[in-house]
Amino acid sequence: MSFSLQLSHATPASIDSPLLVVVLPMDPVVDDTFRAIDVPLGGAMQRSIARRDFRGGRDEVMLFVGGDTGIQRVLLVGRGAAPLTRAVARRAAAIAARQACKLGTGAMHIVLPGANADAIEGLAIGAAAGSWSYPDLQTQPPEKDRRARVQSVTVLSSEGDAEQAAFAAGAAIAEGQAIAKRLGMMPGNVCTPDTFVDVGREIAARHGMTITVLGRTEMEQEHMGSFLCVAQGTPEEPRLVVLEYRGGAPEQQPVVLIGKGLCFDTGGISIKPAPEMEWMKFDMSGAGGVMGAMEAIGRLKLPVNVVGMIGATTNMPSGTAVKPGDVVRASNGKTIEIINTDAEGRLVLADLLVFAKRYNPAIAIDAATLTGAIVIGLGANAVGVFGADQAAVDEVLSAGSAAGEPGWPLPLWDEYKEQIKSDVADLKNTGGRAAGSITAALFLQEFVDGYPWVHLDVAGTAYSQVDLGWIPKGPTGTPVGTFVEIVRARARR
Ligand code: BES
Ligand code: MN
Ligand code: ZN
Repeated sequence: MSFSLQLSHATPASIDSPLLVVVLPMDPVVDDTFRAIDVPLGGAMQRSIARRDFRGGRDEVMLFVGGDTGIQRVLLVGRGAAPLTRAVARRAAAIAARQACKLGTGAMHIVLPGANADAIEGLAIGAAAGSWSYPDLQTQPPEKDRRARVQSVTVLSSEGDAEQAAFAAGAAIAEGQAIAKRLGMMPGNVCTPDTFVDVGREIAARHGMTITVLGRTEMEQEHMGSFLCVAQGTPEEPRLVVLEYRGGAPEQQPVVLIGKGLCFDTGGISIKPAPEMEWMKFDMSGAGGVMGAMEAIGRLKLPVNVVGMIGATTNMPSGTAVKPGDVVRASNGKTIEIINTDAEGRLVLADLLVFAKRYNPAIAIDAATLTGAIVIGLGANAVGVFGADQAAVDEVLSAGSAAGEPGWPLPLWDEYKEQIKSDVADLKNTGGRAAGSITAALFLQEFVDGYPWVHLDVAGTAYSQVDLGWIPKGPTGTPVGTFVEIVRARARR
């Protein structure tokens, strides 16, 4: 099913639509545009506001049924009293699109009176997010019982170059997030390391990027003993995929985006408990985020060089799997004592971070569903942000907050390094339960050589275990928005 998102400068009252969505703030003040829409409804919307049936609180919705021509239905959606941001507009549009899917209107128009460019961008992202679904593996009901999902969304806005550009950015980010969400929703038997090769090739072909694919043999040649020890328990070919986008001057150092791509994480020999293990299909969300971001960056033709790099495999227990106590050697020569085979993400990322060096990064940002500890520490509302380069950390934090994917910094102090010292090797792959997200990040830091680096732990934010109101339980699209925002901000420099 194709989904189309478009911008129109039509005045709301003049359109033909099965559904017009009007996003309003807390205690809305009725203006002429609103009155014009209300005429065919006999003033019902104004009465609802006057009676305070509709108040404009966040997530509040009220449906009005019009005639068979012109605007057939109007949905008022509240955005609350908070200042208008991209995330506020995104949420309201997503709430609206989810309602439209329930109604089965197929198409919708959406207007947010007084929207600035940022809000327009948020509307585009949110409308797409609320319309998103992954129907591939479910039998659809017969046509007569079906309610059409939203396939066409038109954002209404005043004319202006800034609005136009913001809409295009929103549409590109929405498309990138759809790729990331799709990969995140796919079960482990459907999304395999080779899926990342296929998706990578599609993105590369669409946007003229170079793609490099390494398999087990090539990784052996690169001495990636850390990545490969994770992959040694699965017959599936592990994949390291690199996309190179050259939007900037040839000599410009690239932004390097790195993603953990565990297509499934059983824990390996240190096997995870059965309850909720199925959740671990999401353990490729960092890699999905890199793919989604590359798609969006390609669409936007941003004038910056960007390298997207993912490491994909599956963590399995088997007769050939790596065991606790084994010592492996990463591609920078450092030896690692495997304490817990479930701490596999950092082992994959270690060799990616070494590999990243050859691209001479201006900055490298990795995203990984790295630790359960970050889910406990920050929950679903903040990305864990780690880095020793304060300017790089600040850059990523401000990109995340602009994108509506806020992050929160955690320290990388030397004191914590004691926890990952080994008696037999240079490092241990786990540092115990205390400060688990920090010791994981400190482990990664051992493989970063001389370039600014920021680590994003997205274990709590890439996939929601509950319905968040604006999006259902499942993949959220994080960190696509953050990645794209980092590159966009550099394009403006
Ligand atoms: N993919 C998991 C992280 C994870 C765990 C995300 C639970 C969401 C919920 C990662 O590979 C992992 O298993 N980490 C271990 C590390 C531990 C063995 C040091 C964890 O966090 O429990
Ligand atoms: Mn694990
Ligand atoms: Zn994992």
